[in-house]
Amino acid sequence: MDTIIEVIDEKDINKDVLKKAGEILKSGGLVAFPTETVYGLGGDAFNPDSSRKIYEAKGRPSDNPLIVHIATMDDLPKVAADIPEKAYALADKFWPGPLTMIFNKVDALPKETTGGLDTVAVRFPVNPIAMELIKQGGGFIAAPSANRSGRPSPTIAKYVVEDLDGRVEMIIDGGASVIGLESTIVDMTVDPPMILRPGFITKEDIEEALKADIDVDKTIIDGNSTSKPKAPGMKYRHYAPKADMTLVSGSPENVVKYINDAADKDMKNGLKVGILATDENASLYRADSIKDLGQRMDEKAIAHNLFRLLREFDDENINVIYAESFETKGVFQATMNRMLKAAGHKEVKL
Ligand code: TXA
Ligand code: MG
Repeated sequence: MDTIIEVIDEKDINKDVLKKAGEILKSGGLVAFPTETVYGLGGDAFNPDSSRKIYEAKGRPSDNPLIVHIATMDDLPKVAADIPEKAYALADKFWPGPLTMIFNKVDALPKETTGGLDTVAVRFPVNPIAMELIKQGGGFIAAPSANRSGRPSPTIAKYVVEDLDGRVEMIIDGGASVIGLESTIVDMTVDPPMILRPGFITKEDIEEALKADIDVDKTIIDGNSTSKPKAPGMKYRHYAPKADMTLVSGSPENVVKYINDAADKDMKNGLKVGILATDENASLYRADSIKDLGQRMDEKAIAHNLFRLLREFDDENINVIYAESFETKGVFQATMNRMLKAAGHKEVKL
């Protein structure tokens, strides 16, 4: 298949292109598109064939449900049933934006889209290109992240092209994703609601909006947990670069020394070593490739840069990555969740 690649400026949206993209979606084709979190691989959520094609294009197990994207609150009850008051409170505060909520699904929504589940994940993104595309495509776009299964989610179109060229009808290049990590997922079918995947919207943000405590799926950070994560997708080795990655935590001096020693040893053995560093320490390392995540306190910059830098290591054929680690508060909880997964939970605590 020849993939059409279109560049769209978020500030001056070419509606003709999005109309054409909408036609592709309505006729059962796939379109990859930008959102504020990461790029999505979209298909018509009410067309079971489109959902099947999404699994195929991604190489994703079909028991891993897709998120349904909407562009108006009026459409929420058309996919979700038994919507609790608390969900409206969260929608008021965080939609459109990087929050996904899980509800019981309506019967009309095909099980192909929900990975066989009776529940549906719904998101209302704020990116204007995504919003217009959803409207043009019929209102309900099923979309996982636009990466091949197991790879880091793409935050720039270049990496969507790398993973999906020839596998989808169209890729829309709308520039870099503002946030860079996937949405926060909250299960609204339980009370209190439960975070199944941490993201840019934190537990504290949600608790403040609800004026009530919520739960967090324990498997999110704990690599030793033997229980099954409640979001099926969280069980897969995910977000993973090709290299073998290790997180290192401790005082800055100890971390720098440990990583430099380990990198020296690996490089002597002929391995190509990459380091994911904070701005404060980046100049202190010795390795083949040193990448700067941002200043240690800047949780937004670090979230924004992580996936792109992991992909850059892949481009450079890096074999081993050492990464500084972070506390697990605020947005760092989401970043650390992705970093631990990328590292297969390999962490050295000094
Ligand atoms: O930011 C995002 O959420 C991006 C953009 C494109 O919107 N999408 C995204 O989709 O990250 P994906 O498919 O890569 O991740 C969706 C996650 C998976 O872990 C999946 O198992 C979980 O959501 N999920 C979807 N429906 C669910 C459901 N009904 N119950 C529990 N987990 C669900
Ligand atoms: Mg994904």
